[in-house]
Amino acid sequence: MKIEKIKKAFADRFQQQPQVFSAPGRINLIGEHTDYNDGFVLPAAIDKSIVFAMRPNSKSLFRFYSMDYDEYLETAEISKNVGGKTWAIYLLGVLDQFQKKGIEIPGVDCVFGGDIPLGAGLSSSAAVECGFAFGLNELFEANISKFEIALMAQKAEHKYAGVMCGIMDQFAVMHGKQNQVIKLDCRSLDYTYFPFDMRDYRLLLVNTGVKHALAASEYNKRRSECEAGVNILQQYDDSVNALRDATIELLTNHKNEFSPTIYKRCVYVVEENIRVQQACDALVAGDFELFGKLMYRSHEGLKDKYEVSCPELDSLVEIARTVDGVLGSRMMGGGFGGCAINLVERNKTTSFRQSVIENYQTPEGEEPQIIEVSIEDGTGKLQ
Ligand code: GLA
Repeated sequence: MKIEKIKKAFADRFQQQPQVFSAPGRINLIGEHTDYNDGFVLPAAIDKSIVFAMRPNSKSLFRFYSMDYDEYLETAEISKNVGGKTWAIYLLGVLDQFQKKGIEIPGVDCVFGGDIPLGAGLSSSAAVECGFAFGLNELFEANISKFEIALMAQKAEHKYAGVMCGIMDQFAVMHGKQNQVIKLDCRSLDYTYFPFDMRDYRLLLVNTGVKHALAASEYNKRRSECEAGVNILQQYDDSVNALRDATIELLTNHKNEFSPTIYKRCVYVVEENIRVQQACDALVAGDFELFGKLMYRSHEGLKDKYEVSCPELDSLVEIARTVDGVLGSRMMGGGFGGCAINLVERNKTTSFRQSVIENYQTPEGEEPQIIEVSIEDGTGKLQ
């Protein structure tokens, strides 16, 4: 449906037939704020996506239409100050990356839109960056690998959106695979797919309705707090290049050198990194009970030690704890809003939905959006 709508919007606006690409949102099962600490993450691409209708133009112009915002932007200039439209920053950031690589994009028309809820922690921005970059790569035969596209998209986010994000989102959006989660080593960028068996379980996201202002300082602040921790540890062990290399023992031995805040941050990251490995072992053993427990523990760490949760996310996780058939629940993504992810027994999803609706309202006093997701392939070209 959305594909036809976007193709039609393109044809109406530009009187041409486009090529069509799609980039999904992502979930993360466990491993939050570990990516920029060279650690492990366990994300997957989902069945919510952004669709791009694109075609080169011979007008030396970049012409974008966002279906979701119903806004149009036309420019010949690649700069982050163009037009004052937040959504355009991601597209221009990608063009800037192509330019930096010396790949000339003479002009392109693009209509895009989709069903990834915005500001909900599902990486709609990574989907915009990756989908557009993938499309450009195809249209202009630039021969860039999926992996390289993920890196370019991440750089676009750093340079144009000003968020010093890790690689998890862009990687998952590019490399997702149906019914598989990706265990990504964010240092070596080696990755392994693990089947996520959905026969007996379902993944449900509950949107707090609180828009996370990820770009707003806290995310970047956590990054520097982690770096400060590494600087301290390096004085005692020069093999520590990132928190991925630290152990609880090393931290405990030097606790007095740390401010209480930096110490908590570091302990969280080291523990969360261990949890990702344990979660993968649990998946292999088919032990979803344990997997769920690890999700709860992850949330506790994010709430108390890393302090990136918010009262709304905490209350969703508390509600989940009281519902029979919920194995695990945690905040997902950068934090300060967005969604909680819940692992629920297949035949308990209705009672879960009911409990959430009875016990939680968004800050606007509305029923929260509850989204059941399936795990799907990453970015690609559509027929
Ligand atoms: C955001 C960032 C990711 C990652 C998560 C937290 O989604 O874009 O790189 O750091 O937050 O795990």
